[in-house]
Amino acid sequence: MTKSGAMLSRRAFLLAGATLGTGSVLAPSQTSEARVLPSAVASRTVALSAGEMDLHLLGPDKPATRIFAYDGEPFRLIRAKRGEQIEFTFDNHLSEGSTVHFHGIRMPNEYDGVPTLTQPVVQPGGRFVYRIPFNDPGTFFFHPHCDETGQVGRGLAGVMIVDDPRDPKFDAEHILCLKDWRLAEDGTYLAMSEPDGASKAGTYGATRTVNGVPTLDLKAPANSDVRVRILNLDSTRVMDIGVEGADAALIAIDGHALPPIPLDKLPDGIWRFGPAQRIDLHIRMPEAGKSVQIGDYRAADIYHFATLTAEPSDKRKRPFRALALPAAKLPQPDLKRAEQSTFTLQQATDAAVKETGLPPDDPLAKALIDSLCVGSTTYWAISQESWPTGDKRNVPPPLARMVEGKSYRVTIKNGTRYPHPVHLHGHAFAVIDSSSGRLPKHFADTVLVQPDETVDIAFVAASGDWVFHCHILEHMEAGMMGWFRVV
Ligand code: C2O
Ligand code: CU
Repeated sequence: MTKSGAMLSRRAFLLAGATLGTGSVLAPSQTSEARVLPSAVASRTVALSAGEMDLHLLGPDKPATRIFAYDGEPFRLIRAKRGEQIEFTFDNHLSEGSTVHFHGIRMPNEYDGVPTLTQPVVQPGGRFVYRIPFNDPGTFFFHPHCDETGQVGRGLAGVMIVDDPRDPKFDAEHILCLKDWRLAEDGTYLAMSEPDGASKAGTYGATRTVNGVPTLDLKAPANSDVRVRILNLDSTRVMDIGVEGADAALIAIDGHALPPIPLDKLPDGIWRFGPAQRIDLHIRMPEAGKSVQIGDYRAADIYHFATLTAEPSDKRKRPFRALALPAAKLPQPDLKRAEQSTFTLQQATDAAVKETGLPPDDPLAKALIDSLCVGSTTYWAISQESWPTGDKRNVPPPLARMVEGKSYRVTIKNGTRYPHPVHLHGHAFAVIDSSSGRLPKHFADTVLVQPDETVDIAFVAASGDWVFHCHILEHMEAGMMGWFRVV
């Protein structure tokens, strides 16, 4: 720390702080920045560029679709080692502004990728450098945070896996990215958002894909242990994930380990998840020649998106015991002392522009949000506050002001007829209670709140301005987003 002297930049300070606390990164006396930083910083640089490419989504003989992707790779995969910090040099080769948000990663606020709140929009041809620490192992992803219905709708999202050397050994691993597309028969796009969708359950895509193809035929050794990471990268669709033909257990939610739950112990034998949510499953392969189906059972018309066929192997059949991932090491909220607040997801009642209530010298007090990053109509609100739309573009007042390092319990009430996957940036929160009794206790960054359901989350506040929003992208852009200021 001393070599940086009094001239410490914020970044240098963060890095220096990180080298101090080997093994004590979670000590409550440290600042939240220190808490989210690795105990051993190994930095590397990764180039990341957003651009366009052609992909045959409708089938090999049908017209191709012009999609958005990072580095010419649909759902570009990046792997980091737990404790590593990566410097991403992001170049925007799209013809519209963008940013990158590393969803679910606990990080310094300045790299969170939210236009106006944490950074300016990266204009076409522009560049922004993100320095992201990866301390929590698991399955994450990244996406733009501006014109999300348009850009994510066209495919702009990447997979971020943080590997942990302590993980149990699996014989194979598969990563499955689920996303529907809004396509006409000639491969062009239908409108990404229709008023009837945006104001209700969302506008669905009818072309369903996994990793950009209709279905996947995969192989794995007979009787082997397979880790399957499933990401809901759709803009809209809530899915019920189930497995047929094998023993399987849920071993992580949103990247974070939980004590394994056999799938057949879950209500209806499925895990319901909405846009942005991820799960890791441990599947025990059957005998050679047999196959396993993984599907979305939510609609009457089941979508079996992946088939895993068992190939001859020397592994013997044995009773299934799920391999538990090492317990997630996350800041543990103090529920006895936590301050409680309630937020209600609802239809918008008042779309009027409000004063931010921030001190006049706060840069956000008068900031205008880029018109590209807001929707055109307000349909939704969180506790009577709507994120601006149309030309009402100033930053709304924070939904809550919190103190860094303190514990908070947030009750999320769904006062609408539709499910909403609610996401808080920059934190891993504990899901501690649900009125339906449907949810196990677990850590997550996004939680699905069903109609009439109330879900309680709790977390230790990390410093920064963090958005809190529905991850059905049209809902977010039509007002269902707010922010917490943590100082
Ligand atoms: Cu995937 Cu604002 O988030
Ligand atoms: Cu929603």
